[in-house]
Amino acid sequence: MKNISVQPAEGRLGVLVVGLSGAVSTTFIIGTLAARRGLAKPIGSISQLSYLKVGEGQSQREALIKDIVPIAQLDQLVFGGWDIFPDSVYDGAMHAQVLTEKDINLVADEAKAIRPMKACFDPDFITRLNGTWIKEGQTPWDLMEQLRADIRQFKADNQCDRVVVIWAASTEAYLAMSDVHKDLTKFEAEMHKAGTKLVAPSMCYAYAAMMEGAPFINGAPALTVDFPAMWQLADKTNCPICGKDYKSGQTMMKTVLAPAFHARMLGLAGWFSTNILGNRDGEVLDDPASFKTKEVSKLSVIDSILEPNKYPDLYGDIYHKVRINYYPPRNDNKEAWDNIDIFGWMGYPMQIKVNFLCRDSILAAPLALDLVLFTDLAKRCGMKGIQKWLSFYFKSPMHELDEEPVHSLFEQDTMFRNKLREIVAATGK
Ligand SMILES: NC(=O)c1ccc[n+]([C@@H]2O[C@H](COP(=O)([O-])OP(=O)(O)OC[C@H]3O[C@@H](n4cnc5c(N)ncnc54)[C@H](O)[C@@H]3O)[C@@H](O)[C@H]2O)c1
Repeated sequence: MKNISVQPAEGRLGVLVVGLSGAVSTTFIIGTLAARRGLAKPIGSISQLSYLKVGEGQSQREALIKDIVPIAQLDQLVFGGWDIFPDSVYDGAMHAQVLTEKDINLVADEAKAIRPMKACFDPDFITRLNGTWIKEGQTPWDLMEQLRADIRQFKADNQCDRVVVIWAASTEAYLAMSDVHKDLTKFEAEMHKAGTKLVAPSMCYAYAAMMEGAPFINGAPALTVDFPAMWQLADKTNCPICGKDYKSGQTMMKTVLAPAFHARMLGLAGWFSTNILGNRDGEVLDDPASFKTKEVSKLSVIDSILEPNKYPDLYGDIYHKVRINYYPPRNDNKEAWDNIDIFGWMGYPMQIKVNFLCRDSILAAPLALDLVLFTDLAKRCGMKGIQKWLSFYFKSPMHELDEEPVHSLFEQDTMFRNKLREIVAATGK
């Protein structure tokens, strides 16, 4: 990193959100607009609230990340995006009912003016939604070209110097990686085929973003940018990419508790996780194909933390089950239960129960803000491809095929802070 020059965060940064009218997006945008006017606190945002220690020995000091790491400031952000419904950020937030009307009204004028562009959508990938605000196109390539034109237009209209694209749209149906996804030339050929089901709409957004030089963040668990053809494109276009699936509530707790059992050499027999959730995300996840995408993401976390091959007596036979139940009365106020069967000295069993009454979008919004700021930073540092140092933010961190992802929140935090220190050192601060 030492020889790398960090381009300053000058000018306006366009933030294009896919799923602009949804719960996470509107909560993220309204909270950011309110925070930059000093009307709300960006709680949960590491970029805004956390300190970082830098330097060594006598010259060690501590400063707020936002003051020492050259990230864009909140008043440099300009929001836009796409949705399959034409609702403005204001209307979307009213519909989502995450924030109170009083809080939404803090920034009513700005939120009303942020309206989605028409989406790239295929109902086969999200069967529970019938969008009305949708682009027409013969092939995924054609739709991708339209998305590129949108990005260029947005940049020009808003005099943006740079753009980041972030997926905060619904979870697409599970799609397994096939040969087409392993090579960029083959993938591009597939994008030219009408009716193909190997190119999901999320892939068109990601491809378009990179072709326009924009980092792409995947906040949902779908395949999207997590395959070799996209990694090749990221390399070719010098774009940072990261994902998958914001690590916000239940999984965040899991990646805190599992390292504790491992550190204390306590055994684990079973982990049953279930939750009830009644927002639109819950409705989409009620479809088995979308749930499968989420299930794979939620199940992946404990193995790499517990190392069952190294400790077969402790972790060789774990029953891990994850359930998500759509339950409309709770809306965005998810309730999650974990029953954890552990065992200790001489094999005696014990149980831990976690009951997390969380607010899904309240937890996810600060992650979206941080990811936007840090991927823009990565781009200005000349970092391209998978940003493993941002694994901290994801349930299912992207990694190369022959690598193990890091899931422990503590190890992820160390990786993340070390990278920020390297960047600060490169700026000579
Ligand atoms: N809230 C959390 O804690 C959390 C955590 C991890 C991941 N996620 C993921 O974040 C995503 C958003 O969650 P949410 O609660 O905001 O859901 P939501 O249903 O409220 O919002 C999703 C939005 O995406 C739009 N959309 C769907 N397909 C689209 C497309 N092809 N193009 C553009 N827009 C499209 C929908 O119309 C909707 O407005 C989901 O995939 C969810 O699984 C959320």
